[in-house]
Amino acid sequence: MENVKEFIETEVEKIKSQVDGTALIALSGGVDSSVCAELAYRAIGNRLLPIFIDTGFMRKGEPEQVREAFSHMNVKVIDASDRFFEAVEGIEDPELKRKAVGETFIRVFEEEAKKSNADYLIQGTIYPDVLESEKGIKAHHNVGGMPEKMEFKGVIEPLYYLYKDDVREVGRELGLTVALSERMPFPGPGLSVRACGLATREKVAAAREANAIVEEEVMEALKPWQALAAVIGKGTGQKNEKRVYGWIIAVRIVDSNNAITAEPLEVPYPILKRIQERITTEIPDACRVVYDVTPKPPGTIEFE
Ligand code: XMP
Repeated sequence: MENVKEFIETEVEKIKSQVDGTALIALSGGVDSSVCAELAYRAIGNRLLPIFIDTGFMRKGEPEQVREAFSHMNVKVIDASDRFFEAVEGIEDPELKRKAVGETFIRVFEEEAKKSNADYLIQGTIYPDVLESEKGIKAHHNVGGMPEKMEFKGVIEPLYYLYKDDVREVGRELGLTVALSERMPFPGPGLSVRACGLATREKVAAAREANAIVEEEVMEALKPWQALAAVIGKGTGQKNEKRVYGWIIAVRIVDSNNAITAEPLEVPYPILKRIQERITTEIPDACRVVYDVTPKPPGTIEFE
């Protein structure tokens, strides 16, 4: 990015002059909404109303981290996990699952927006989201997802033309913690897309633990663009001298050019081994771990 300071100044000024009342923002725990919230907070201070909807599909410790990182703002936390699990019940198809999560998100958000009486909506949409939605590659739940009947005076998307790396740069300049600004990408529908097929509570819980393990083992050691784990099905195994039918966990560690293409990392075997040992020991119902060697294309980064 050419001039980060100038970008921030311009966007802060724009928000300042546009927002004559209050503005709502949904924090997700990810880089985009975090950067957006900090920008908006600089512009309008406590007239910014951040809400955090806990979908039940968040990363391990995420609700707590969001509370802590944004303790200088008045964040409203809403635990809506029951509604989200209900919404995806019985849905195996990945796009339908995305839609169900997206629609539930909108409904919960709409209710909160009404209660808040906010005048404006601020969203952390970034350019790759726009491109992928336009091309019909994927239903991003932060693009074009807000219903028209939410009568905001305006929707503000300060990061609309930025790529992820630029967003990170802006985050660093705004003084976001490293944990937040360097955080790897995480899908809007969260762990529901990493619990392939039916996203049951048990499967999502296994996905949450596995993702935390992978993150702990590789983010510092390998600094990949993205590392994740997905529960991709069930397989036979042997645990505690008993035959079991447990989760198969796929591990994916990639470097990427802004998520457009991706290349799997040649992970040193001892690291893979450690990940396997931790997953099959710490997650009671997991009995197999596989490593995905597929680039994007033909694979995508997420499994869905
Ligand atoms: P795929 O799986 O399509 O993912 O190769 C590309 C990148 O986008 C992330 N991703 C999302 N990010 N909202 C987001 O903000 C979403 O709905 C979403 N779905 C996928 C994914 O983690 C990868 O980095």
